[in-house]
Amino acid sequence: VQVALEEAVPVFVAGMGNPGWLAEDAHAQGMKVMALIGNAKQAYDCQNSGCDYVIGVGHEAGGHTGRVGTMALIPAVVDSVDIPVLAGGGIADGRGLAAVLMLGAQGVWVGTRFVATKEANTHPRHKQRIVESQETATAWTRGFTGKTARCFRNQITDYYERHPEELQPFPSQLYSVKESFRAGMRDGDYEGFMPAGQISGIIHDVPSARDVVAQIVIEARSVLARFGLSAQALT
Ligand SMILES: Cc1cc2nc3c(=O)[nH]c(=O)nc-3n(C[C@H](O)[C@H](O)[C@H](O)COP(=O)(O)O)c2cc1C
Repeated sequence: VQVALEEAVPVFVAGMGNPGWLAEDAHAQGMKVMALIGNAKQAYDCQNSGCDYVIGVGHEAGGHTGRVGTMALIPAVVDSVDIPVLAGGGIADGRGLAAVLMLGAQGVWVGTRFVATKEANTHPRHKQRIVESQETATAWTRGFTGKTARCFRNQITDYYERHPEELQPFPSQLYSVKESFRAGMRDGDYEGFMPAGQISGIIHDVPSARDVVAQIVIEARSVLARFGLSAQALT
């Protein structure tokens, strides 16, 4: 954090917890502070402690995620804060962008779609698994880290579904499954931890990140236009 402040990185994003404690120092450096949140109360608390944006991440998202789905989460967050809201969890194309704009979000936060791009520093088998998977292929589990996270279902997620009494709190659980935790992303091992969202079901290719962004914008414009809505904000 100290290095980020010294280097005055333009945007600081916290994936866990409320980063409000560094907002004053970050603002003094001209930085923006954003926080991933999973419910409206967390969003409200982040706003009140000085965050500039909140990112509502729904249950369907890849990686650590909460229990409220994007469709219910985003309007609840929009209603509870005055700062801009970005929407994440289950967004991979222009239909998703258009939908969350309708819910009151200002933009999107996209994970799984970018994991399956040429530039992503992800194991090729991780990309392949996203491309080949349907929307039912993931599990929401505490089995890998001790906190709820969405990843591809495998023997470990099945095991802890049957034996929740053996789960350790975060971060101890990491040590219970240490090798498997690493093997997923490091070696592309399907029995390891491979975070991915339910939206894998509509991802069928590995394009460049640039093409993903361009395609999302083109498609959102045409979706909005179909309903007679101007898409000037998407220029
Ligand atoms: C492979 C993978 C790794 C991730 N790692 C992190 C992380 O280290 N920190 C974090 O805040 N979020 C992480 N996320 C979650 C994303 O920031 C984002 O909230 C999520 O992917 C959005 O939902 P989507 O996957 O449906 O697009 C990760 C997601 C994936 C798929």
